Amino acid sequence: MIAEKAVEWILAPMDGVTDFPYRNAWMETFQSYSCMHKAVSPFVTLVPGGKVRSSHLRDLFPANNKMEIEPQILGNEEDWFLPMAEALRDLGYASVNWNLGCPVRQVAHKQRGSGLLPYPERIASFLDRVLPASPLALSVKIRLGYRSAREIYPVMEVLNSYPLKYVAIHPRIGVQLYGGQADWDGLESILPLMKHPCVYSGDIDSVGRAECFRRRFPGIREIMLGRGVIADPFLPCRLAGISFSAEDEKLLFRCFVRALLRQYRRAGLPEQTVLQRQKLFWSKFAGTFVPEGAFEQIKRLSSVQEYVRVCGALLGCDLESAIDEIPKT
Ligand SMILES: Cc1cc2nc3c(=O)[nH]c(=O)nc-3n(C[C@H](O)[C@H](O)[C@H](O)COP(=O)(O)O)c2cc1C
Repeated sequence: MIAEKAVEWILAPMDGVTDFPYRNAWMETFQSYSCMHKAVSPFVTLVPGGKVRSSHLRDLFPANNKMEIEPQILGNEEDWFLPMAEALRDLGYASVNWNLGCPVRQVAHKQRGSGLLPYPERIASFLDRVLPASPLALSVKIRLGYRSAREIYPVMEVLNSYPLKYVAIHPRIGVQLYGGQADWDGLESILPLMKHPCVYSGDIDSVGRAECFRRRFPGIREIMLGRGVIADPFLPCRLAGISFSAEDEKLLFRCFVRALLRQYRRAGLPEQTVLQRQKLFWSKFAGTFVPEGAFEQIKRLSSVQEYVRVCGALLGCDLESAIDEIPKT
């Protein structure tokens, strides 16, 4: 293993996935291993009006969060930025991330997310208007472009001329959505042109992949974990060099599954949403810690009560019991 300890692993923003109940469940289970304690939260959209309703920011309430969070915003409306930034400051945040990467067509067609990348002059005018008045530091998360990876060059020139905290890059283009592979050649060509610290995001889903990345890009010290950690919640621990016995993995996985249920219930979501979220995670889990054929059984369930019964039988535990035994390192 190469110098993985020098890297900070950050939970990537994933709308509808890495929200506060997920983050808290992960922390509850894995925080004693001290391998990932920061996240950029999924985007909140900029909204009109002079005041942001607090219900819009529920995911970001400090009382709801065990992880250290940097909030993320999505939008291109300069006038809507300041009320949002002030609301976030009032919640205690010091910086905010601007989403220039969202590839969803309906978003991009309104020149939001990665749909702004073909318009560097619009990015410049947004930054011109918001930065002088912003009570928060600003970072951005970008792709290499929307239609073409050539779009990044003028965008990088613009970003270089503003005081940003960092630039996070997910090296795909918008129209690719999540297809193909992260473009490390594209990343390599843009790095020498970047003036700000670079945070990386994309396809780090195993220790081997992380090692390849670190070998090629030893200067990048902050790396986001997205789909990789959803599939394998142990990934940040593995990347920190922590290994578990098969028995401990099973035990910890059980703790995590129970924490997920507890946290989504505690968030007061409708029962069907709680169930859908559990199914979503089970559809992604991958590893020897997953009981064979589990998702096939879980995807058919129609109530949380059934889930508690079936999943409990699969894992050999009472899913609702209050006591979890987290193995020590
Ligand atoms: C379901 C889903 C939701 C996402 N939501 C966001 C988001 O809200 N903000 C953002 O900047 N990126 C978002 N992303 C992109 C991820 O943060 C990340 O850059 C991307 O998944 C690549 O990293 P990975 O291969 O580690 O998953 C999302 C990705 C997925 C798959």
